[in-house]
Amino acid sequence: CGIFGYIGEKNAVDIIFNGLKKLEYRGYDSAGIAVIIDKELHIRRSVGKLCNLGLSLEENPASANIGIGHTRWATHGKPSKENAHPHTDTAKTIVVVHNGIIENYVELKVELQKDGQEFKSETDTEVIAHLIKKYYKGNLFCAIQKTLSRVTGSYALGIISKNEPDKIICARQDTSLIIGVGTGENFMASDIPAMLPYTRDMIFLENGDIAEITAEKVVIKNIKGDIINREIKNIRWDTVQAEKNGYKYFMLKEIFEQPRTIEDTFRGRIYSDEGRIYIEEVKLKEEYIKNMSNIYIVACGTSYHSGLVSKFLFESFAKIPAEVDIASEFRYRDVILDEKTLVVAISQSGETADTLAALRLAKSKGCQTLAVCNVVGSSISREAMHVIYTHCGPEIGVASTKAFTGQVTALYILALDWACKRKTLTIRELKKYLKELWEIPLKINKFLKNSQSVYDIAKVFANKRGFLYLGRHINYPVALEGALKIKEISYIHAEGYAAGEMKHGPIALIDKSMPIVAIVVKGKIYEKIISNIEEVKARGGTIIAVADQSDKEIGNKSDYVIYIPETDEFVSPLMTVIPLQLLAYYISVILGCDVDQPRNLAKSVTVE
Ligand code: G6P
Repeated sequence: CGIFGYIGEKNAVDIIFNGLKKLEYRGYDSAGIAVIIDKELHIRRSVGKLCNLGLSLEENPASANIGIGHTRWATHGKPSKENAHPHTDTAKTIVVVHNGIIENYVELKVELQKDGQEFKSETDTEVIAHLIKKYYKGNLFCAIQKTLSRVTGSYALGIISKNEPDKIICARQDTSLIIGVGTGENFMASDIPAMLPYTRDMIFLENGDIAEITAEKVVIKNIKGDIINREIKNIRWDTVQAEKNGYKYFMLKEIFEQPRTIEDTFRGRIYSDEGRIYIEEVKLKEEYIKNMSNIYIVACGTSYHSGLVSKFLFESFAKIPAEVDIASEFRYRDVILDEKTLVVAISQSGETADTLAALRLAKSKGCQTLAVCNVVGSSISREAMHVIYTHCGPEIGVASTKAFTGQVTALYILALDWACKRKTLTIRELKKYLKELWEIPLKINKFLKNSQSVYDIAKVFANKRGFLYLGRHINYPVALEGALKIKEISYIHAEGYAAGEMKHGPIALIDKSMPIVAIVVKGKIYEKIISNIEEVKARGGTIIAVADQSDKEIGNKSDYVIYIPETDEFVSPLMTVIPLQLLAYYISVILGCDVDQPRNLAKSVTVE
């Protein structure tokens, strides 16, 4: 989601609306704005793209000197006017825009409802407005301090109140929030580009910061109320660059977002210390989960690859037989399905025609259906009986990156949850696997900070005519995904292969000019894939290994190594895919291809 706030002499409505336009790429299922005119709050909200809010503002123009706005990408609650931000308390004195996820909103909501507060939306955000009201005793800042001490999760918040109409208060925890410093006016926004037309002086809030913004000044405090000094930075980017947050392409930005988007997908759903999983929206009965006979996973493209990863998880963790099928194949086969079969449809967009048709077929055969989707309110998420959302935010690059890791994360916690219910894992194992997932964002961050080796390798191999990607076990699908990425954005032929199957064909392709990317992380079949690498070396092939940092041997066996932080093998696809995404990206850039919009491809394929 994107948030924007303004206080100053100019018309807040126009400035906020223009700011939201720049933030629309962060979410576009609904939008809203709240301003204070003569000590009264005025709120406008619309479903759909921002232009709908624009129309409503044109029909009924308003003028104010303070306000906040929001463009939404739904996480809790479908896209609707009620769920659109800003949200207020029951008496409509306080109004809030929020980006992030409030993890403990269910318990807070129950508490506030007992106090007599009426909830108008299904969002997690609304609890903030009611809580602030509950604690408001004449000082908005103090009420917000108290509120934030009760809230867990991530947030960038913008808050105004008709009782204190000369200030915006904003707060940050794990979600970006920036203050734009002007002369006689100040701004706040989720990211830089929205504010660049007005100011280049910006303050980057850090976790735990609460800022009080008036037209004349900005005061930043911590939750205890101590004043914090934050430097004002002068931004030199041009606006186009800034929309990508400084990244050259959306794809690169999305690759680097993955530590966040993975965390957002498991946040509030897993509690690794207690060994507990809570997936609020999946309401499959425990009895059904225990008795489910098999799972069919249907998807296309990258989503199909995350489905292939999940087969290992459902089988190994939950002991449920799992089949994965390309949706366009599944829909024309005589698949044997019954009511004990669960059909899982995976789709970033939720609109892919073949996946939707496969889902409809499954429903017509009486199966239970579950969707793994990124776009809330999309066709697949609406038509499936159950849905688990990946919280990745809009993916703009046509070649999918963060959606893949989001899907694998969601499927990983589903498999663990069902393993728990079917008692196929001990609590110790469960805690271990949850901890492994919990640590992944940090590990990816660590790798991304030192990913120069991938660029160096890309420079060496960008002019090759073909690549072979090898993987085994749970990293076999990652080899397929690595090859797909390079095909999609560099137009170089690449094949992903199960390393053990190489000797039955692709080995004939190997000569000095053929680079082979091999995923060789530690695990059950480590020795086996090492043997496969030796088979390649014996035929003169060039090996680029993706291996664990701790692997001391691999350097002797391969020509190039991309070292990655060590993980448990079941969670490793979240890590191993990252260098492969980057390799494809760099090669595409070196070759001068259109990274974000490769030829002939569409982000969402809504035709058969
Ligand atoms: C298109 C996109 C791919 C995507 C596939 C499935 O081919 O270019 O990146 O993986 O569709 O899309 P979905 O939205 O269903 O995940």
